Order: sequence, then structure tokens, then C-alpha cells
Amino acid sequence: MDAFEAILTRRSTRKYKDTDVERKYIEKVLEAGRFAPSGSNSQTTHFIVFTNKKLLLKLAGLVRDEFAKMEIKPDTYISLKNSINASKKGDYIFYYGAPVLIVTANKKGYGNAIADSACALENMMIAANALNLGSCWINQLHWLDENEAVRSFMYSKGLNEDETITGGLILGYPYTDSPNRTMLERKGNPVTWVE
Ligand SMILES: Cc1cc2nc3c(=O)[nH]c(=O)nc-3n(C[C@H](O)[C@H](O)[C@H](O)COP(=O)(O)O)c2cc1C
Repeated sequence: MDAFEAILTRRSTRKYKDTDVERKYIEKVLEAGRFAPSGSNSQTTHFIVFTNKKLLLKLAGLVRDEFAKMEIKPDTYISLKNSINASKKGDYIFYYGAPVLIVTANKKGYGNAIADSACALENMMIAANALNLGSCWINQLHWLDENEAVRSFMYSKGLNEDETITGGLILGYPYTDSPNRTMLERKGNPVTWVE
């Protein structure tokens, strides 16, 4: 698959086989992330990789508990509202049971923190598609970046105190044999040509 096809056919996968992803493929995806560009070549995106099922379930329970404590306000972002509602019901697993979760972090106060991490995350999702793996951006830990319990858990797993959680993604073998590659119609993302 060439680069253009990998970009155009990348879709989010939210149902996975209960099969581990070989370390060499996780490393390839990480390499794609680490080779993303960064503002002033700062290379400060930090990749924290979870593959341990017990730890992932523990983190899912923590995320569920912390969302369940939150109140929904009139201006609460729709996806965050969905996470809070699902957590209050008690059946919420934010990473959809995927075998791999890669959390991205970057320096607090660095103006390109999210931009650099987004470049890395997109590179990794495209690489995953090229490797026949499914992936999906997972933002719940970013929303909980200032939550004490989540931060304390993440510190114990390698997050540094001067870092902010910028995003993350899941990775795994899709439940269907290959990733969904049906291209989504583009109705938005307008282009203005200036002559
Ligand atoms: C910044 C960002 C945050 C996202 N957060 C989540 C998320 O937390 N959970 C999720 O299931 N999908 C998440 N997504 C995936 C989007 O829902 C998805 O990309 C969009 O619906 C388009 O579908 P596609 O990825 O299949 O093309 C996120 C995507 C982006 C770019």
C-alpha cells in the first residue's frame, strides 16, 4: 500500500480481536510516530505504551470512576458528555478492549504540545493501516489530564511531572479480518483557492 492509499483509507476501529500485537509491529508504529515533525525540531512528544491487560483494565476502571464523578454542564463537549454518561451507567471501557494503548504527552506550557503530538498520532494511525492493524485516537486521558487520581496513576507509569497528556491511540487486530477502509465522504474541511 502506498502512502497516499494508507492516508485515504485510514478509518477508526473500535472493535478488536483478543489477539496481542507483535512487539515488532508496535515498534514500527512507534517509529512512525517518533519520525513525525515537531515545532523547532523539539522532539518532546513522549509515548507511553500499555500492553498489559490487567493494567489497562485498572486504568479503564479509574477513568470510569473519575468521569462518573463529573457533572455535565450546558457547554460540555459532546464526546466528553458521552463518556460521563456511559461512566455513570458503569459499563464504560474507554479503550474498547484494544490490546495496545499508546498515550502521548508533551511539555507543559509548550505552545506546540498538541500540534506535535497530533502529527505523531496521525503518522501512527496511517502506519497502523499500512500494517493491516486497526487504530483509533483516544482522548479521554487528555480530558482527564488535570485529574489527580489519573495523573498519579500515570506518574507511576512513566509520565513526568512537567508533562501534559496530549492524546493517545489504541491499536490492534480488527474484529473483522482487515481494518474498515471505506472512505468517509468529505462534506466539511473546505478549501479556498486564492488566485
Ligand atoms: C482529536 C481527536 C479526538 C478523538 N477522540 C476520540 C475518542 O476519544 N474516542 C473515539 O472513539 N474516537 C475518537 N476520535 C476519532 C473520531 O471520532 C474519528 O476520527 C471521526 O469520527 C472520523 O472517522 P474515521 O476516523 O473513521 O475517519 C478522535 C479523533 C480526533 C482527531
